[in-house]
Amino acid sequence: MITKSHFGNCLSSGSGIETLMDDLGRAMAGSHGPVRMLGGGNPAHIPEIQALWRTRMTEILADPPAFDRMLTNYDPPLGNARFLSALAELLKREFGWQIGPENLAITAGGQTAFFLLFNLLAGMGVDGTVRRILFPLVPEYIGYANQGLAAGMMRSLEPRIEFLGDHRFKYHVDFEHLEIGDDIAALCVSRPTNPSGNVLTNEEIHRLDGIARAAGVPLIIDNAYGAPFPGIVFRKIDPIWNDNIILTLSLSKLGLPNTRTGILVASPEIITAIGSMNAVVGLANCSIGQAIVQPLVESGEILRLSREVVGPFYERKSKLAQEWIAESFDDALDYHVHVSEGAIFLWLWFRGLKITAEQLYIRLKERGVLIVPGHFFGVGTHGDWPHGHECIRLSFAMEETVVREGIFILAEEVARGYRDG
Ligand SMILES: Cc1ncc(COP(=O)(O)O)c(C=O)c1O
Repeated sequence: MITKSHFGNCLSSGSGIETLMDDLGRAMAGSHGPVRMLGGGNPAHIPEIQALWRTRMTEILADPPAFDRMLTNYDPPLGNARFLSALAELLKREFGWQIGPENLAITAGGQTAFFLLFNLLAGMGVDGTVRRILFPLVPEYIGYANQGLAAGMMRSLEPRIEFLGDHRFKYHVDFEHLEIGDDIAALCVSRPTNPSGNVLTNEEIHRLDGIARAAGVPLIIDNAYGAPFPGIVFRKIDPIWNDNIILTLSLSKLGLPNTRTGILVASPEIITAIGSMNAVVGLANCSIGQAIVQPLVESGEILRLSREVVGPFYERKSKLAQEWIAESFDDALDYHVHVSEGAIFLWLWFRGLKITAEQLYIRLKERGVLIVPGHFFGVGTHGDWPHGHECIRLSFAMEETVVREGIFILAEEVARGYRDG
């Protein structure tokens, strides 16, 4: 029996993200038997994109020096120099951002970027006070929840809720109650928001950026799903970056989750610190994802694919999933679906349901459907988060029959939950 350190306890005492990834990994490997996987955030296997990865691998294999470079040389801790230059060029050319390779760092997926960033900026300071990350729009990404190494390191602001009729609703940042105290080290939003599929408008981002700047803290924008890539955004928005913004990108939702490639766009001061942390924690990062997308970044094709293939693919799936919900749910029930503006999930709110979302999750799992109960997404909320117990997140990324059957079974269990508890 080991005696765990504080660090050990923080990271190895169980978490929502661990449960989710365990469910996800087993379901994808088929070791649960046939499961309708509406749980974790595995990206879809888009035929055109899958074919592209195969072509790229064949090209790399046919070029022995490139193949050897990809597999047999460590990259520097900040990432592959050729890749960083190509990406800086692309972002400068397309969006006019004043950046060079010194503004970019690679991490082992976006998930690791957040662990490093949150604990770089917040937590126990040298003066003995705890500084915090503020999430201005919960529900927020489940993967942030257990990343802080200091107790109480996350704070959040509950949203303003707008009912849009026809079982639809939308969260808004409650700007009136957004206060940045001295204890706040950074603001952080995912755009699109995982889990709700909300997409903060350009105006909202500029407003948040102005508030962060005035308080002298950075604004972190988690672009795991957003623009310019992978482009899973169903409304017109601009990719936004300036020297007070820390933008995180990832190759995962473009279709390369197992290459574990996260990308940070930030001031050189942040980038240098992340490079140092990368070296200590992991020496270097995996270069396979960078090698695969290198020519797509050089040509700008990565942006076209995001805009014309990946985004529209998921938008269609989102619409279908919403149609199936409308078809299978009893109109008389007090259920609400968050407007789907991006990402690969629908966020459902069962107001007044007689069972908790966690009980619903268990019942659904028994029937071979995986979803994620909403309370895990109350990142930084104090104590219990009642709203989260009435919500669930479901992914619409899997095959149509899987999503359709899953929604049908969900509708039956929700009807039972309203009726009998
Ligand atoms: C909002 C958000 N941020 C970050 C991540 C981390 O993704 P990855 O580590 O695969 O880049 C995810 C993964 O699902 C996510 O949904």
